[in-house]
Amino acid sequence: MSTSLAWDERYAGGSFQFGEAPNRYLESLAPRLGQGQGLGQGLGMRALAIGDGEGRNGVWLAERGLETTSLDWSPVGLGKARALAEARGVALATVAADAAGWAYPAEGFDLVAWIFLHLPPEDRAAAAAGVVRTLAPGGLLALECFSPAQHGRRSGGPKIPELLWTRAIAEDLFGGLEVLELLEGTVLLDEGPRHQGHAEVVRGLWRKPV
Ligand SMILES: C[S@@+](CC[C@H](N)C(=O)[O-])C[C@H]1O[C@@H](n2cnc3c(N)ncnc32)[C@H](O)[C@@H]1O
Repeated sequence: MSTSLAWDERYAGGSFQFGEAPNRYLESLAPRLGQGQGLGQGLGMRALAIGDGEGRNGVWLAERGLETTSLDWSPVGLGKARALAEARGVALATVAADAAGWAYPAEGFDLVAWIFLHLPPEDRAAAAAGVVRTLAPGGLLALECFSPAQHGRRSGGPKIPELLWTRAIAEDLFGGLEVLELLEGTVLLDEGPRHQGHAEVVRGLWRKPV
């Protein structure tokens, strides 16, 4: 099972395991989110990137003007996230916590990014409940995670089947949110040394009803 220490060890060293550029799915949402929600002009929006590791996604959101918090249980990862934010000249708040047990503030964020955070079922359900609670009305959840079809591919992801996502799991956990898009299928990853090549994922965008 994954531990924060194991992630600290993976993140030790100078290189970024998943690159310094944002996740391509999150990045691709920027124009769509510009309508009304305004990721394109994110000033005043509050973003939470959970399981943000070395901070590539949180820093990208901060660069777009969102007031961003990166949460991860790896202090080493978050140290690199802060360094990346400083190098890019943006502010980034960091929280070292277990995503399953954090006290998600009610209606505390306008956007949550859940990118390649894979948790055991009970923890996944607890984190999902926290995310739903922490979204403000109209707030958005963007998620990309590996699906069971990733088994045998070498483009990344956990080896433990119960950590993987299906469309049905996402529908179950986020049933209280409005689905803007939800897909399970094949994508091409090009994200640092650990995510390279074709991959099987669940990806989706939800909005909390107003
Ligand atoms: C595959 S990495 C993805 C990192 C980042 N989201 C990205 O896409 O670059 C998974 C991250 O989830 C974090 N993580 C795993 N379980 C966690 C938990 N229970 N609480 C907080 N972070 C966790 C790990 O420390 C790691 O940084």
